[in-house]
Amino acid sequence: TSSTGSATSSTTTLITNIASLVTNDPSLGDGSPLGLIQDAAVVIDGDRIAWTGDSRKAPATDNRVDAGGRAVIPGFVDSHSHLVFAGDRTQEFNARMSGRAYSAGGIRTTVAATRAASDEELERNLTHYLAEALRQGTTTFETKSGYGLTVEDESRALRIAAAHTDEVTYLGAHIVSPDHADDPAAYVALVTGEMLDACAPYARWIDVFCEKGAFDGEQARAILTAGKAKGLHPRIHANQLTYGPGVQLAVELDAASADHCTHLTDADVDALASGATVATLLPGAEFSTRAEWPDARRLVDAGVTVALSTDCNPGSSFTSSVPFCIALAVRDMGMTPDEAVWSATAGGAAALRREDVGRLAPGAYADLAFLDAPSHVHLAYRPGVPLVREVWRRGTRV
Ligand code: NIG
Ligand code: FE
Repeated sequence: TSSTGSATSSTTTLITNIASLVTNDPSLGDGSPLGLIQDAAVVIDGDRIAWTGDSRKAPATDNRVDAGGRAVIPGFVDSHSHLVFAGDRTQEFNARMSGRAYSAGGIRTTVAATRAASDEELERNLTHYLAEALRQGTTTFETKSGYGLTVEDESRALRIAAAHTDEVTYLGAHIVSPDHADDPAAYVALVTGEMLDACAPYARWIDVFCEKGAFDGEQARAILTAGKAKGLHPRIHANQLTYGPGVQLAVELDAASADHCTHLTDADVDALASGATVATLLPGAEFSTRAEWPDARRLVDAGVTVALSTDCNPGSSFTSSVPFCIALAVRDMGMTPDEAVWSATAGGAAALRREDVGRLAPGAYADLAFLDAPSHVHLAYRPGVPLVREVWRRGTRV
C-alpha cells in the first residue's frame, strides 16, 4: 500500500529515558501550559509525533533511542529573522557600544551590500545562519526580504528564502529606498504595486517597519491592506524605537503578530489583549542597541499571547540564539523560565498561526531539542552555555 502526504517512511521510533518533557499541550502531563511530563517517552511515526506520555506506558515500536535522562523540548519556532543579507555592521556596533544611538539609518549599509552581492553569496549566508540556528535548537524559522528595496532585489531575496522555509515575509517596506528618498509616496506606490506583484508568489506574509524614520501609520495601513488583497497575511514591526500607531493597526488588521512592542501605552496593551495578534518580543535587539527592555510581564499579566524570537539581522540583533533570548527575557523582562520557553516554542507557532509546530503532541511535527540538562529551566539558569545537545527535525536527527 502507498501512503500519500508523508515525505518519510513510516518507521516508528521510541525516545525513552527523558527526564522531563515539555509538550506545550496542557491536556498532557501536569496540566500547566507547558504540559510537563516527568520520566517521559515520545513515539515518532515518520515525520510526526504519534504518542507522548509516561515512559512506563509507552507502546512497542520499530526503533528505540535512549535520551540519557536529558530534558526534551519542542524545537524553537523563531518567528522573526532577517537572514537574506550580505556584509556586516561591526563598525556601527562598535560606535553604538561607545555611546552612539541606534537608528534605522544603518539599514542602508546592508541594502548597499546586499544589492552588490551575487545570488550565491546571499544563499551561502542564509544557509550559514540557518545551520547556526538549527544547531541551537531552531527547527522552524521565518525570514524576510527588506535589504533589497528594488523589484529585482526584493523578489530575489524572497526566492532565495522560499527555497529554505515556508515562512517567508515580504518586507519591501523596511525603509524608504534610498532611490526614492525625495518621494516616499512613489516608493509606497512601488511597494504596493509592481514590487508586490513580483514578490507575492514567494511570500506568505507582508510586513512593514512602522516607525519614525520608516513608515507612518497611514503608509503602513496602505501597504498591509494591499498585501492582504494579494493574499499575503500581515505582520508588523511596531513600537520598537518610539510609541506609535503600529500595534493598534496590527490588531485592527488582524495581523498575526506585532513585533518588538517595546514602547506600549495602556491602550496598546488593551488592544493586544482583546485581539488575536501575538506580541513578539525580540530582546536581542534591545541587548544590541542598549535600549530599554520590552515589559513582557505586563503583557503576560494582561492576557496577551507573547512570542520570543531573535530578530537575527546584521544591524540591531546579530544573534541566532533563541536560548540567549530566553535568558534575557527571564533576567530582564519579567518572564518566568516556563513562560519564556513557552513563548519561544508555542508562542512562535502562534505568531505564525501554526498548530503543527511548537508542541509535542500527536499529529505535530517531530521537531525536538534535547538539552544537556535535567529541565528546560536550565536554558535561563545557565545562560551562555550551549545546552542544546541534539536536534531532531521532521522525525530525523540532524
Ligand atoms: O527588526 N526594525 C527594523 N528592522 C530591523 C533592524 C534592521 C537593521 O538594523 O538592519 C529590526 O530590528
Ligand atoms: Fe526585525
